[in-house]
Amino acid sequence: MSRRGLFLTFEGIDGSGKSTQARTLAKHLKDSGHEVVLTREPGGSPGAEEIRRLVLEGDPERWSAETEILLFTAARRDHMERTIEPALAAGQIVICDRFADSTRMYQGLSRGDLRAIVDQLHSLMIGREPDLTLLIDMDPEIGLSRAKGRQGTEERFEDFGPELQQRMRGGFLSLAKEFSDRFRVIDGNRDMDSVAEDVRDVVQRALRQN
Ligand code: ADP
Ligand code: TYD
Repeated sequence: MSRRGLFLTFEGIDGSGKSTQARTLAKHLKDSGHEVVLTREPGGSPGAEEIRRLVLEGDPERWSAETEILLFTAARRDHMERTIEPALAAGQIVICDRFADSTRMYQGLSRGDLRAIVDQLHSLMIGREPDLTLLIDMDPEIGLSRAKGRQGTEERFEDFGPELQQRMRGGFLSLAKEFSDRFRVIDGNRDMDSVAEDVRDVVQRALRQN
């Protein structure tokens, strides 16, 4: 039997609770005896974390959308090679906070329609989708106020404003329909424990099928 692991991703707008839920799920799965790698994008490997600083800090106009597609995909390639693929090959569960669906949204939709370029580069350089994607859906105003409450320097995308978050929310829901085989939508407008319970149920089902 192959020791192929399970590749789970969290997606959603800024402040929707992805990182919180990814952490909670990782702890739950570890406590139940699974080997888990919790990682994030952009980042997740030393080289990709360096690229993270380039794309998330500084002026919102620092990069064009096209240049960003290249930078995020370069970071993802390194992350795949060094962190994700080795863990999956060892039969582990990989939980990744954002992945290629974020590029489809933020670079593919935010400044003109560049979705086709994102998809082409993805099939050329990454060529893999997650086994299961949990979309934490939530009201953008609440999400943005939560994200802004965090304080920090990684604010390039948050600085694009609430209109972008609205479009991203709609875009993610469309993506969930487009990839309905691997997407599950979770209502994020609730307390953390209720959201975590839904996440756990969906993942348990996926583990049984794996
Ligand atoms: P994301 O990774 O999607 O940006 P985070 O998990 O970092 O979101 O959450 C953003 C902020 O909102 C954090 O301060 C977190 O503690 C808080 N938060 C997360 N989930 C909830 C929830 N269900 N209810 C209230 N606050 C939450
Ligand atoms: P993240 O640290 O997950 O932010 P948050 O916790 O606020 O959701 O991601 C930082 C930003 O990077 C986020 O605003 C979305 C953006 N991003 C892209 O634009 N393209 C991508 O491919 C990825 C992975 C993230």
